[in-house]
Formats: sequence, structure tokens, C-alpha cells
Amino acid sequence: MPRVLAPLVLLLVWLMKISASPHSLRIAAILDDPMECSRGERLSITLAKNRINRAPERAGKAKVEVDIFELLRDSEYETAETMCQILPKGVVAVLGPSSSPASSSIISNICGEKEVPHFKVAPEEFLKFQFQRFTTLNLHPSNTDISVAVAGILNFFNCTTACLICAKAECLLNLEKLLRQFLISKDTLSVRMLDDSRDPTPLLKEIRDDKTATIIVHANASMSHIILQKAAELGMASAYYTYIFTNLEFSLQHLDSFLNDRVNILGFSTFNQSHAFFQEFVQSLNQSWQENCDHAPFTGPALSSALLFDAVYAVVTAVQELNRSQEIGVKPLSCGSAQIWQHGTSLMNYLRMVRSD
Ligand SMILES: *[C@@H]1O[C@H](CO)[C@@H](O)[C@H](O)[C@H]1NC(C)=O
Ligand SMILES: *[C@@H]1O[C@H](CO)[C@@H](O)[C@H](O)[C@H]1NC(C)=O
Ligand SMILES: *[C@@H]1O[C@H](CO)[C@@H](O)[C@H](O)[C@H]1NC(C)=O
Ligand SMILES: *[C@@H]1O[C@H](CO)[C@@H](O)[C@H](O)[C@H]1NC(C)=O
Ligand SMILES: *[C@@H]1O[C@H](CO)[C@@H](O)[C@H](O)[C@H]1NC(C)=O
Repeated sequence: MPRVLAPLVLLLVWLMKISASPHSLRIAAILDDPMECSRGERLSITLAKNRINRAPERAGKAKVEVDIFELLRDSEYETAETMCQILPKGVVAVLGPSSSPASSSIISNICGEKEVPHFKVAPEEFLKFQFQRFTTLNLHPSNTDISVAVAGILNFFNCTTACLICAKAECLLNLEKLLRQFLISKDTLSVRMLDDSRDPTPLLKEIRDDKTATIIVHANASMSHIILQKAAELGMASAYYTYIFTNLEFSLQHLDSFLNDRVNILGFSTFNQSHAFFQEFVQSLNQSWQENCDHAPFTGPALSSALLFDAVYAVVTAVQELNRSQEIGVKPLSCGSAQIWQHGTSLMNYLRMVRSD
């Protein structure tokens, strides 16, 4: 597995010493993670929070509290109601959700109005991305990062002909940077869209007939898994073929069961496995998975849970650091008033500065 992307996950871990405070530092998280066979988002937020609160440097300081709200469906209306419950609590940031685009967009809008940072952990939605608010920060690597990484792999393998399988219409917009590189170089990229039946068989047969050996799959982990499984059934899991997956959930794809070991499969991992806490993090998620999901084996942590872990650290660290130069007070806000959080913009400026380091 090449690690082309700069690892973002589990890196933002450092704590600053600041003066004592009896108050609590409150964060809200709005999650859509199912209870059964979950992505481990609640657990990783709790792990981050406990780890921060237990750190010796934090003795006597503001206790970190994370209020977790469950989102039952991707609904703008219900999410707006939830945000109206959250604002009066006085939060320094709102995290999530990881797979509800409509809810995520309404949270960004409300956070934008109130100048409260909103941390996203999901891949960018192309159309919504254009209107991204200043207070929104996405910890998930961008489509541009992914395009550049895939282009890098193709260059490395001197690959001049490839096929791109797209699960969604916005695929071409997402991977614009990659397509542009093909246009400039006059290499050949054929693009094939999955239709509504979601059966990749006809499209894989075409690729086989074309004798295209390099196949880029732009789909989520479950769809990518189905595509590879069908490819194996069609005899396309041989050493002749190379599959490149653009989703960053390589560990969730359950690869071993149906593949012969000669097919080339490339994906990305953004986990920093040498991070001191990584093993414990994986073990905790594994244990919780086994308690709540007995019909499937645990294959690895979901990216969203690791990004939420990082998000808790990033917020707490930024607030502490900023609090050295200006005293950060939290204040209750409300949906009904025009009041904003006066420290939100400084916090965003600080978070953006740290992220670009
Ligand atoms: C910022 O520091 C002051 C003391 O200098 C403390 O009273 C306050 O609680 C701190 N704020 C946060 C959000 O940690
Ligand atoms: C790609 O081509 C270059 C120069 O033609 C060669 O040195 C390199 O080994 C090739 N890379 C691969 C992975 O085949
Ligand atoms: C994955 O993508 C497929 C098709 O693009 C979609 O039907 C499915 O709901 C997605 N699954 C998840 C878990 O997001
Ligand atoms: C991974 O984590 C270790 C330990 O925290 C750190 O020293 C290292 O720089 C990180 N790796 C990368 C690529 O940032
Ligand atoms: C999860 O834990 C079990 C033992 O409890 C272990 O056999 C398995 O390898 C672990 N899986 C991962 C992906 O760490």
C-alpha cells in the first residue's frame, strides 16, 4: 500500500501547558454512525476526550466535555433543530456527521452564521464545496489530494492507458485534476459510469474486451468491494490487472477471501501506524466491534472515527494555544438571536495555520 498522501490522521497530538481553569470546554458532535456494527465514531471521540482529560498537563484545567447527538436520518429540518439545542450550551466547535450530506451542509451554514468552527470528516461534496464557509474545516483529504496521488501512481508505473470506473455522476468533477493530467499528456483514459442497477458486470466485460490493464475505481468501500468481487468472477483478478482504489477506506474492503494473490491492488492508508496511540486505538475499536457486531470480522478502523479523534485533539489544542494570547470565553448562543461567538474567527485562523504546517 503506498502512502502517497501526507498522513493527517493521529498526527495532531500535542498538548500545551496553560494556566488552570475550573470551567469546562464543551464540544458537540452530531453523529450518524449506526449502533450495530458502527464505525466506532462515538468510541473514538470518547477515547480522545478521556486521553486529553487524563493527561497530567491538564490537571486542574478545564475539563473537556463532548456532547454527542444522534442523527436518525439525513434531514435538514431535524438537524437544524438539533443545532438549536446545541448553541445555548456554549460550544467551541461542532463535529460531524460523517455520511449525511444534507445535515452536514445545514450544520455548516448555522455554524457559519454563528462563527462556530465546524469539523467535517467526510469526502468533499463537489457542488457544496464551492460554497464552503470560512468556519468549515474538512479533515478528510481533498479530491485534489486524491487526484494528485492517483496521478503519481500512474506515473510511477509508466502507465499510459487506464480505465476509470465511476460510481457517481460527480466523479469527473471530483477527479478533475487527474483528468486534466491525461489531457495534457495525451495518454488514454476511458471513463465508465455505473448505471442505476449498480451491477458492474457489463462494464467490466467491456474493459476486459478492451484489454485495459489498469483500472481506477472511484467508489465507496462497499461498492469497490462489489466491483472487485465481480471482476474476480470474470477472471479479471490476475497478474495482468492493476486496480487502484480512490476511497481511503482500504482496510474496510475485505480483500483476501476471493482473490488470487497475483492481482495488483493499490489503495491509500492515511493512518500513522507508528503513532504512540495507534495500536491502543485499533484494539479498542476492535474490541467494541466484537461486542456489537458478531456476524462480521473487524477489518480495521474507519477513517471517520480516526478523523473525529483528531478533531477533538485539534479543537482542544487550538483553544488552549489561543487562550495564551486572548482569553477564550465560551458563550451560550441561540438560533433566535443574531449573536455570534466572538472567538470563532481567531480559532479558525489558528486551526488553518496549524493544518497547513
Ligand atoms: C483560558 O484561560 C483562562 C485563564 O487564563 C481560564 O480562566 C479559561 O477557562 C481558559 N479558557 C478555556 C476555554 O480553556
Ligand atoms: C518507468 O520508466 C522508467 C524510464 O523509462 C524506468 O526507469 C522505470 O523503471 C519504469 N518504472 C516502472 C515501475 O516500470
Ligand atoms: C456506496 O455507494 C453506493 C453506490 O454508489 C451506494 O448505493 C451505497 O449506499 C453507498 N454505501 C455507503 C455505506 O455509503
Ligand atoms: C507518526 O507519528 C510519530 C509519533 O507521533 C511521529 O513522530 C511521526 O512524525 C508521524 N509520521 C508522520 C509521517 O508524520
Ligand atoms: C481484532 O482482535 C482479534 C482478537 O481479539 C484479532 O484476532 C484480530 O486480528 C484483530 N483485528 C484487527 C484488524 O486488528
